[in-house]
Amino acid sequence: MTHASRARSAEESRLLETAARRLPGGVLGSARFADDVAFVVKRGRGSRVWDVSGREYIDYLLGSGPMILGHAHPAVVAAVREQLEHGTTFFLVNEPIIALADELCRAVRCAEQVRFTSTGTEATFFALRAARAFRGRDRIMKFEGGYHGSHDYALMSSSPRSPKAFPAATPDSAGIPHVIEGEVLIAPYNDLATVEALLAVHADTLAAVIVEPFQRLIPPRPGFLAGLRALTARHGIPLVFDEVVTGFRFAYGGAQEHYGVVPDLAALGKIIGGGFPLAAVCGREDIMRAFDPRLDGAGDYVAQVGTLNGNPIAAAAGLATLAELRKPGAYARLHGLGRALRDGLADLVGRSGLPAQVIGETTVFDVVFTDQPVTDYRALLTADGALLKAFNAACVTHGVLKGQQKLYVSLAHTDEDVAQTLEVFEAALAALPRRRERASG
Ligand SMILES: Cc1ncc(COP(=O)(O)O)c(C=O)c1O
Repeated sequence: MTHASRARSAEESRLLETAARRLPGGVLGSARFADDVAFVVKRGRGSRVWDVSGREYIDYLLGSGPMILGHAHPAVVAAVREQLEHGTTFFLVNEPIIALADELCRAVRCAEQVRFTSTGTEATFFALRAARAFRGRDRIMKFEGGYHGSHDYALMSSSPRSPKAFPAATPDSAGIPHVIEGEVLIAPYNDLATVEALLAVHADTLAAVIVEPFQRLIPPRPGFLAGLRALTARHGIPLVFDEVVTGFRFAYGGAQEHYGVVPDLAALGKIIGGGFPLAAVCGREDIMRAFDPRLDGAGDYVAQVGTLNGNPIAAAAGLATLAELRKPGAYARLHGLGRALRDGLADLVGRSGLPAQVIGETTVFDVVFTDQPVTDYRALLTADGALLKAFNAACVTHGVLKGQQKLYVSLAHTDEDVAQTLEVFEAALAALPRRRERASG
């Protein structure tokens, strides 16, 4: 824990001042650290990143998930270097992107065809557009607390402070046309009976049901996804899995393989671009065929185009990443490492005396500061956000970087990283105010 002893350098302070002046909030739209722990990343390698002041962090943010091999993995660097020499973007099909499309269809059970985008936000947006064209309806159903990127249909009841009665939607952002609220129905995650009742009334107006099979940090209850599959099939509504987080992480075949439930369409992102901007919609050929430009002029053509879509550098990085993940033992190691860290953290949390618990799967998890059982978004509202912020800031101060509400593990993390991280977690938990101090302070 040498990290805490080093002060922020003059150079880093200057950069942070420029960022504060030139970028709204001084950030990229993602989370904002408290001013006293903010830093500027200089470089990353393996499980570590370093800031401009030379301070080292064990990284569980991992670029918000893509860096499952760690930073600057030699196989990815070599593949990207090789492709760089041959041109960086063409706006045309190219060898790496065709190979990647083929590999995605081999790996992901629902995938018969693929349409590439540059971000996960676009992938869910276009999955919903394709479903609308296929089904000839407009509205979509999503789950309260589910996140599908930042387009207008996705930013509905992802993080409502005062949730409305189901299925009314609450926009998560200013600037979204009010008319969109009526186009999105909100259902409670993990509550099949309510979903069934809502579908009984609204099925005929729905184009799609979209779900994160593992919602943020909340695993599906046994039977929830299978029930959702059966209900949507019964009503003829395309089911979309948002696998931007779970794809190639929970298993090579993603959450579909891990939980054994196959949707009609899936959105992929993060890992498939190996740290470059690449995402995809994939799924049943009879739905995906609407993206075929030869249908232009016919009523059911789904327009979708983007300057950098199918970018060969991103495809090369993605292919190199997937090749590492196919190596024997890769997932056993990833899950083993994640389990050691998750269960170690759970043990520390249990002994801390704080009203807290660890939730999630072995490769994506975090602590939540509530003692209520967490099976849906509303239970998460009982959590103490201030304690989580204080915990995150203490972790950064001691050289452990994590997401605001999430830890990812990578194949670059070692047993020693885990041991070191657990020491930091213990110190961070010990520094948090207990109930009496919080009440009086
Ligand atoms: C489940 C899920 N869907 C979609 C997205 C959006 O992806 P992107 O940030 O690439 O637009 C994210 C991003 O974190 C996500 O977690």
